[in-house]
Amino acid sequence: MKLLVTGGAGFIGSNFVRHVLSKYPDDSILTLDKLTYAGNPANLAGLAGEARHTFVKGDICDAALVREVARGVDAVVNFAAESHVDRSILDPDAFLRTGVHGVYTLLEAVRALEIARLLHISTDEVYGSIAEGSAAEDAPLAPTSPYSAAKAAGDLLALAYVHTHKTPVVITRSSNNFGPYQYPEKVIPLFVTNALDGEPLPLYGDGRNVRDWLYVLDNCEAIDLVLRQGRDGEVYNIGGGHEVENVAVTRDILRLTGKPETLIRPVKDRPGHDRRYSVDTTKIRALGWTPRHRFTDALAATVDWYKRNEAWWRPLKSGQFQAYYRQQYAHR
Ligand code: NAD
Ligand code: TYD
Repeated sequence: MKLLVTGGAGFIGSNFVRHVLSKYPDDSILTLDKLTYAGNPANLAGLAGEARHTFVKGDICDAALVREVARGVDAVVNFAAESHVDRSILDPDAFLRTGVHGVYTLLEAVRALEIARLLHISTDEVYGSIAEGSAAEDAPLAPTSPYSAAKAAGDLLALAYVHTHKTPVVITRSSNNFGPYQYPEKVIPLFVTNALDGEPLPLYGDGRNVRDWLYVLDNCEAIDLVLRQGRDGEVYNIGGGHEVENVAVTRDILRLTGKPETLIRPVKDRPGHDRRYSVDTTKIRALGWTPRHRFTDALAATVDWYKRNEAWWRPLKSGQFQAYYRQQYAHR
């Protein structure tokens, strides 16, 4: 297969590119990525010299460029998005541009070039906060943050193209990912790197919000399965099956880094903070997927990765990040 992977220099995208190239010797990938603050060539550095991988810097909203790089591919996998809820509260503009207009641009290219498949990567956050039970794929969309509203808009546009133009789209909606190469603004890498530096861990609100943690390599396997075996027009939830309160994850991180619980700093809650996410994963499991990594082992491996890869994350936490961190946390 020849794939166009958009947003492939980010966290999940770069793990996916590596996964596909190592699993399928006959596959090749062209990665298109704008290299925003979250996109990082270092995430793909291990692929230097790999003839089956090509990198192009560019924006998925650039229709001419998208058509140029999409010509001749068997499928497009779209990871490109602004991905951090807190930043969408501070400044939602780019979220809407990439999440709606970017998805539209990809849909038009897939239509025009008659590409066999567009796999659009979405999120469990489109279902909103789930008080009880778990959201199946046909649950109503009830996004609550600018981030999740932009993602829901992208999903709805993609499904409208399925309905109107029979565009061959499949969508995955996964729960919170963690693992190597995650930008250290998200809670797990932020808390791990803060703990390693002996800095406070800013825990929002009462710390009892629940997320269903999914190891990124398990997600990559699920995405790969949907890419090759999913049905056109269908949505597939992907969840780790490990729902825990943030305070429990925080304690795990402190234990794994050997730091005291006095580093936990309760801070003012995120506006509109969703209490709990939970997805019903019956459909993806029926396709033959199950998460292969236990949360505790995967978290230990992740902490270990950040310990060993300080040269990767240390530069990301300087410069621009410092300004963001002050703006985001100073008043709390
Ligand atoms: P990330 O922020 O690490 O990576 C996003 C990548 O997209 C970056 O490399 C960035 O440069 C690129 N990008 C942004 N705007 C672009 C544009 N206009 N054109 C081209 N490239 C652009 O995000 P991630 O955590 O890897 O998430 C990837 C996808 O998975 C996103 O669509 C996100 O909504 C979804 N998702 C993430 C999680 C999670 O826990 N991280 C959970 C569910 C769904
Ligand atoms: P995050 O990694 O931002 O993912 P999302 O908001 O998309 O679920 O946050 C995960 C959880 O951790 C969420 O409930 C918010 C909380 N959180 C904190 O308590 N402190 C922080 O500094 C951050 C970034 C998140």
